[in-house]
Amino acid sequence: MTVAGMDEIDLSANEFWALPLARRADAFAQLRSEGRPRFYAEPEVPFSEKGPGYYALVRYADVAEASRHPDVFSSGKGATSIPDLPVEFNEYFGSMINIDDPRHARLRRIVSRAFSPRLIAKFEDDVRRVAAEIVDDLLATGPCDFVPNVAARLPLTIICDMMGIPGDQYDMVLTNTNIILSGADPEYLSEDLDQAVLQLLGAGQALADLVTSLAAARAAAPADDLVSALVTANIDGEQLTSAELASFFILLVVAGNETTRTALSHALMLFTEFPDQRALLLADLENRIEDAVEEVVRYSSPVVFMRRTLTQDYTMNGQDYRKDDKVVLYYNSANRDEAVFSDPERFDITRKPNPHVGFGAPGPHYCLGAHLARRELRVMLRELLTRVPDITAGEPDRLLSSFINGIKHLPCQFGG
Ligand code: HEM
Repeated sequence: MTVAGMDEIDLSANEFWALPLARRADAFAQLRSEGRPRFYAEPEVPFSEKGPGYYALVRYADVAEASRHPDVFSSGKGATSIPDLPVEFNEYFGSMINIDDPRHARLRRIVSRAFSPRLIAKFEDDVRRVAAEIVDDLLATGPCDFVPNVAARLPLTIICDMMGIPGDQYDMVLTNTNIILSGADPEYLSEDLDQAVLQLLGAGQALADLVTSLAAARAAAPADDLVSALVTANIDGEQLTSAELASFFILLVVAGNETTRTALSHALMLFTEFPDQRALLLADLENRIEDAVEEVVRYSSPVVFMRRTLTQDYTMNGQDYRKDDKVVLYYNSANRDEAVFSDPERFDITRKPNPHVGFGAPGPHYCLGAHLARRELRVMLRELLTRVPDITAGEPDRLLSSFINGIKHLPCQFGG
């Protein structure tokens, strides 16, 4: 099977994820056009034996149905990784995203209020202030690497603030969340597999140590932050154990940091590649910004996949699955499914309706931070594109990862 010069579409090969985005999009279009989901051997990873393989769900209908039936498509054996995570990883990475109801729902309830639209709206002033400071600094610095100077700063500051993490720890948080979501990228993770496992566990340990010290302070004097909510939470009559507290904290800081930053970097690239869409947005920013943000998330799909494992035999859209089969929900592909989106390869900020699954499809694990991410994206893009209307992106340096559609570095220019 040849797609744009590719001998074989191997979603488990790092080489596939190093291809330019357009070639990957062609490959997924090819997979969607086939009658049945393909079955793939699992990727090699530093931390576990090779598992049994997985079906690649590339169509919108399959991604939606699997998300809607969590009793059949379980997250409990791992959602964020295709291979099962070994037990020593659970201490740091075994949080609610990798747990099923009813325990998942109880854990999610501890923090869900803080992420509700009403409470997130209360952060509007903070988000605006931080975004304005970032753009002040950008104008003072001049053309620079957009990722650390702009895209990474807003989500980092806001999630650290919500957690009650002091400012002098922000860099340490970013360094460690970068390692945890580094995929297979040698800039962050050693190519020596044993060394890579130690780096991942070290990043988990560093964040766990941070929350342990914050938790001790908050247990003595609770404050109005998420760490206080976590230490005082009572689930089934029990407090969170220290491992549960650590993994919950790590999930929130990793998810809060690494995704919105990716969407912001893609937004600058998209508004550079499609100047007509930038002009359209700036012509009526207040009325178009919400739909523009949805289209940025659809088009860039910052989180590429989540995995599920079958709890029973099941037939979905003509394909039989067996108990214990693994399926991988490719959001990037569902978001370009021509059965749902007309002209899906077109970046169109007026697209409506836009039922993308960039934050997951409807179901119990739908992104907890979606309201926060949308608000951060709206505020930052408004601030950036109105105050630096001629800003453009140069060539991106992409993260080598099958999980996050990440940008490590992105030169930006402005001012003629
Ligand atoms: C553009 C930015 C973001 C994107 C594209 C994104 C995407 C996703 C996706 C695809 C899922 C999995 C849904 C599923 O399995 O059905 C998810 C879950 C999650 N997200 Fe986000 N996310 C973003 C921002 C955030 C932010 C800012 C936070 C803040 C803490 C966050 C916290 C979470 C959490 C905690 C979960 C797990 C929810 C659960 O298991 O119940 N996300 N996100």
